[in-house]
Amino acid sequence: MRLAVSASVLLAAGLGIGAAAAAQDGYRPLPSAGAPVLDALPAEPGAQGDMPSLIANVAGRQTHSLDGRWQAMVDAYGAGMGDWKAAWRDRTPTRRDEFLEYGFDDAVTLQVPGDFNTQQPALHWLEGSVWYRKQFDFDAKRLRRDGRRVFVHFGAANYRTDVFLNGEPIGSHEGGFTPFQFELTGKLKQGGNRLLVHVDNRRRRDAVPAMGVDWFNYGGLTRSVRLVEVPARHIRDYHLQLSPDDTQQVSGWVWLAPARADVPVKVEVPELGVSFDARTGADGRAAVSFRAPLQLWSPERSRLYRVRVSGAGDTVEDEIGFRSIAVQGERILLNGEPVQLRGVNLHEEIDGRRATSEDDYRRLLEQAKALGANFVRTAHYPFGETFVRLADRMGILLWEEIPVYQGIDFANAGTRQRMQHMLAEMIGRDRNRAAVIMWGIANETAPGDARNAALSALAAQARVQDPTRLVAAAFYGPGFHGARLEMRDPLFPALDVIGANIYYGWYVPWPVAPEEVEWISPGKPLLVSEFGAEARYGRHGAADLASDWNEEFQAEFYRRQFRMIERLPFVQGTLPWVLADFRSPVRMHPHQQGYNRKGLLSESGERKLAWHVVADFYRSRAPMPNLEGVAP
Ligand code: GCU
Repeated sequence: MRLAVSASVLLAAGLGIGAAAAAQDGYRPLPSAGAPVLDALPAEPGAQGDMPSLIANVAGRQTHSLDGRWQAMVDAYGAGMGDWKAAWRDRTPTRRDEFLEYGFDDAVTLQVPGDFNTQQPALHWLEGSVWYRKQFDFDAKRLRRDGRRVFVHFGAANYRTDVFLNGEPIGSHEGGFTPFQFELTGKLKQGGNRLLVHVDNRRRRDAVPAMGVDWFNYGGLTRSVRLVEVPARHIRDYHLQLSPDDTQQVSGWVWLAPARADVPVKVEVPELGVSFDARTGADGRAAVSFRAPLQLWSPERSRLYRVRVSGAGDTVEDEIGFRSIAVQGERILLNGEPVQLRGVNLHEEIDGRRATSEDDYRRLLEQAKALGANFVRTAHYPFGETFVRLADRMGILLWEEIPVYQGIDFANAGTRQRMQHMLAEMIGRDRNRAAVIMWGIANETAPGDARNAALSALAAQARVQDPTRLVAAAFYGPGFHGARLEMRDPLFPALDVIGANIYYGWYVPWPVAPEEVEWISPGKPLLVSEFGAEARYGRHGAADLASDWNEEFQAEFYRRQFRMIERLPFVQGTLPWVLADFRSPVRMHPHQQGYNRKGLLSESGERKLAWHVVADFYRSRAPMPNLEGVAP
């Protein structure tokens, strides 16, 4: 969800839909006059329809980090957004007899980036609002003199975010795992400025995800916040990928904003001696296509090239790997060759908190590599951009998905728009990352007219925004008919890859022995996208006792699953659920203690017996990936 920059437009557009949505889902009534409201309003000019358009590759721009300690005020019931408390006005008393029932100067501080739940004991279970405030100096005169523009860019914030500058509404965003930005050009004062950010992580029926999640609903400014400066006309975005049918041809586009025709653009790959010139069309985009003697990117050799894009006085550098990904019948082809996807599911969690730093992400990816994986699914939401860039460098393929998870209100227009915006934000951010081979658009959603239409449209949107990658979705496992297992879903025709989440042997017993199962191929690449059983690390017992939470049972679960999987030629890959035990408030058994314990590792990284079963299976199926530097 994006929001315009002027209070009056916000108010006019927001109180209507916003208030209706608020009333419908019991979400606290939106504030009355003067306060900002949340609503979807036209994004930057040149975007497709009202799709968000972000400045791509912010790390490659001139930035001013706002990370560090922020003053914070806990507003558990979201009272501050109303016009009674009106915390968003961020005022200080001007008269001795003036009373304001909010304040930041004597407030606690929270670290940004980072979830707020794990920074203060009192916040552990909070599903509500926290107000963050950052004071910073800015040379607004220089910006005006140089004719430059400045945006505030959020890597992500969970779940709904309302942004104010010096007491004025700037914009709102909805969605907990994708980046967003608002322009501050002309709004920053010379010298001291106050950025005030309201973050509300309450779950809602009309949200994405909705009420039912099997993970900890970490709230807050979970990823970096920075000011991004660009020239008045700048390189907004670019897409430079291998042509699907020619592994020595790079094609794509560069987009200058605001749009103007006939502006020269250059794309250079210095180490290959490539310097490609083009000119923009009326929409500000310039087509790019050049041949080069490329070393293709792969898990075995994660070759990245320094690429320089310039136009209208703006220049941005990136590191891009070039590879192709395609489907052929029931096969997935990487650089034209069938690829066995030895995968594992990850949540973005480490040390009992939301992972956010490069070191956090490196630890997670090294654990995946140590298992023998060459493929990771970011369950069930996009992880930080740093994670994706690290996967580029480490040579780990990614299935990256948006949190269209189980019970979504597909009949709600606002919900559908949120899904569309999240997909656009994820693709916009990672469209040049070789590691990402497929966009996941849903997990375990039930068939229905509204769902089928919404997800078919979402799959089509993904193909428009990025025709170079595959579109996938994960489904509840198939039903048994005797010994036959067959998956059917009206969504299949819209997808390239089908994910089957199989929990036979855990939630329900096998109706037949796994090695006797007859799977019917869905006629396109199938991944076993989840399969797992729980065990509490260090607890041992009989391998046939399902409710004993012991490691032997979990290990035997995997042995039995693999006995079935290795007989299925159309299964292109497997993703055990899940790399490590992770927090989930819906897991209340005494041996779970608020954790989902399907991890192959404990939450502290200790290897359970099942870890060795999976590692042996992966080792037996392919040469081990390059493990130098990975923990033994
Ligand atoms: C589901 C779901 C996961 C969940 C897992 C489980 O398939 O996709 O998010 O954690 O099963 O039940 O453990």
